[in-house]
Amino acid sequence: MTTIGFIGSGRIGSALAQLAVGAGHDVVLSNDDGPASLRDLVARLGSRARAATPAEAAAAGDVVVVAIPVRAYRQVPAEPLRGKVVIDTLNYDPARQGSVPEIENGDTPPPLLLQAHLKDSFVVKAFSTVFFKHLPELARPAGAPDRSAVPIAGDDAAAKTVVAGMSESLGYDTYDVGPLAESRRFAPGTPAQLAYLDPDGMFTAPGRPAGVAELAALLDEVN
Ligand SMILES: NC(=O)c1ccc[n+]([C@@H]2O[C@H](COP(=O)([O-])OP(=O)(O)OC[C@H]3O[C@@H](n4cnc5c(N)ncnc54)[C@H](OP(=O)(O)O)[C@@H]3O)[C@@H](O)[C@H]2O)c1
Repeated sequence: MTTIGFIGSGRIGSALAQLAVGAGHDVVLSNDDGPASLRDLVARLGSRARAATPAEAAAAGDVVVVAIPVRAYRQVPAEPLRGKVVIDTLNYDPARQGSVPEIENGDTPPPLLLQAHLKDSFVVKAFSTVFFKHLPELARPAGAPDRSAVPIAGDDAAAKTVVAGMSESLGYDTYDVGPLAESRRFAPGTPAQLAYLDPDGMFTAPGRPAGVAELAALLDEVN
């Protein structure tokens, strides 16, 4: 079993943490407001969960999930994440989360932003495509006919293997899209990111499963 650190424990972070404890992993949660503000969430998740500062969560995790608003990315502690596998769940949505000058002025494309900050970590984009409410709904045991897949992208093959294994334990297959820059093919608004949304109900309806073959076809729609 793995210890998974969380930088950001809001909607997507806590949904992933819930799946993680269910799969028998330990989780170390952190946020902006401090460990005391995570007391209720820790109580809900049970004995495999504890709260800490972002630096402590980064240091404790074998794998560390970053699930914060993109505009706060520079506050992710780089030093304790050196050499570690980092899962980047971030979606750049300036209208809702605030803009990032480095992106707006064209210096850094959104898929590369966190890796550019965490130069000595192995960043893998994953779980950026599933709406937080759908994450527990769509999780399935390995081999289930309606198991969903999530696209992953990263520049380090070994890190992607680690993330695929973790994803497997959380109830999802993975589909490797290639280097981190290729995560543009599952960025906000792309067909792959809309894969799990019922077209009639969108975010209000239950999630709809999307397996590897369907996901691959949707990713191919973006050149
Ligand atoms: N919501 C989804 O369904 C979904 C799905 C896929 C990907 N994403 C992406 O995941 C990211 C998080 O989204 P969300 O919906 O989970 O947001 P959220 O519910 O607003 O949660 C954000 C979390 O980040 C924490 N945070 C903010 N600044 C921080 C900092 N400097 N250091 C440490 N923690 C910090 C917040 O702490 P406080 O509570 O203390 O402020 C909170 O725990 C976004 O980039 C989003 O695009 C979201």
